[in-house]
Amino acid sequence: MGGSTRAGTMMMLSYMVLFVLSAAPAAVVGGRAALRGRGMLDNGLALAPQMGWNSWNHFHCNIDEKMIKETADAMVSTGLSSLGYHYINLDDCWGEQNRDSQGNLVAKASTFPSGIKALADYVHNKGLKFGIYSDAGTQTCSKTMPGSLGYEDQDAKTFAAWEVDYLKYDNCNNPDTSPQERYSKMSKALQNSGRNILFSMCEWGQNDPATWAASVGNSWRTTGDIDDNWGSMTSIADQNNQWASYAKPGGWNDPDMLEVGNGGMTTEEYRSHFSIWALAKAPLLIGCDVRSMNYQTLEILSNSEVIAVNQDKLGVQGQKVKSDGDLEVWAGPLSGGRVVVVLWNRGSGKASITANWSDIGLKSSDVVKARDLWAHKTISSVQGKLTATIGSHSCKMYVLSPK
Ligand code: GAL
Repeated sequence: MGGSTRAGTMMMLSYMVLFVLSAAPAAVVGGRAALRGRGMLDNGLALAPQMGWNSWNHFHCNIDEKMIKETADAMVSTGLSSLGYHYINLDDCWGEQNRDSQGNLVAKASTFPSGIKALADYVHNKGLKFGIYSDAGTQTCSKTMPGSLGYEDQDAKTFAAWEVDYLKYDNCNNPDTSPQERYSKMSKALQNSGRNILFSMCEWGQNDPATWAASVGNSWRTTGDIDDNWGSMTSIADQNNQWASYAKPGGWNDPDMLEVGNGGMTTEEYRSHFSIWALAKAPLLIGCDVRSMNYQTLEILSNSEVIAVNQDKLGVQGQKVKSDGDLEVWAGPLSGGRVVVVLWNRGSGKASITANWSDIGLKSSDVVKARDLWAHKTISSVQGKLTATIGSHSCKMYVLSPK
């Protein structure tokens, strides 16, 4: 393509971008960053938010190779893996307290007697990917095993030799040096390890990672740890929301892992949790015991229409666009000119919630088809606004498509 033609095409593209930006209100165009393209780390991973399972929220330190293998089996037999939940991630407490005489990390003999490579092989043989955990400090948060500070290259090589696909990197027991420095060191070590490893940064949002981590990791925690209750989940959703404009393919805000199925919230509260995480393009990491989950849990986690919102190729994080006390509208653009809308009642009684087209980036004359992603029903024609009665701590989630 000649220089002038390329310049012409670039100009046309900028006009198109400008048109998209001016056609939607500021809240919905949190996608400004996404329009700039992929995250700078550019290892080709997490082009959509990563999906999988992690041991921490349910099991904490009570993990062993038998239950991890059973979990991998269950991810396949329940159909979750075929919906995109590919990563099986070990969290804290998988290692011995001390390194070996060569300074290598060692799997805990009492709980992982076959070693990590054998476990990764088992997971890979099921068509899944395998993730592990370490820490940018001298010890992990449990203090039961070493962290990787000062051993970044050696540990990255160990993980690559074990055929690890994903590293969650925590922030405990650090010497108070900048996380930029400590996380960049491991990011580079992974890039030099000879294996393409997704880098999930767990710095708890302390140093506003959204503003600097796109060149370092594929996702970054924006908050402290989630607890399995309504107050924690809603507060984390709000804290994460302020960083929406920084999310883009290759680098995502991480409001922590899912609690769906752990028992501390009602089914409707878990449905809200999953809907908002999906809309916010959060990594979807299941945190319950999938070997024994009930029907409601599986139904929530396997809603393929909600998952499709999370994995949409536009990669723009949806945001809270309106709130009236406890009654909220969250929305964001999707590919194909579609819009996702969540009407969320955070109050204690039933209430009517309305999304006006002006709230969600549509023109008042626009006529759309509205797909209800939880009822699995379509309203064939809606214009100007969408109103629904929503129960306490419940939500409705729609995808609006231009007619
Ligand atoms: C926390 C982290 C949790 C979990 C835990 C393990 O710092 O946020 O997600 O990894 O450490 O000790």
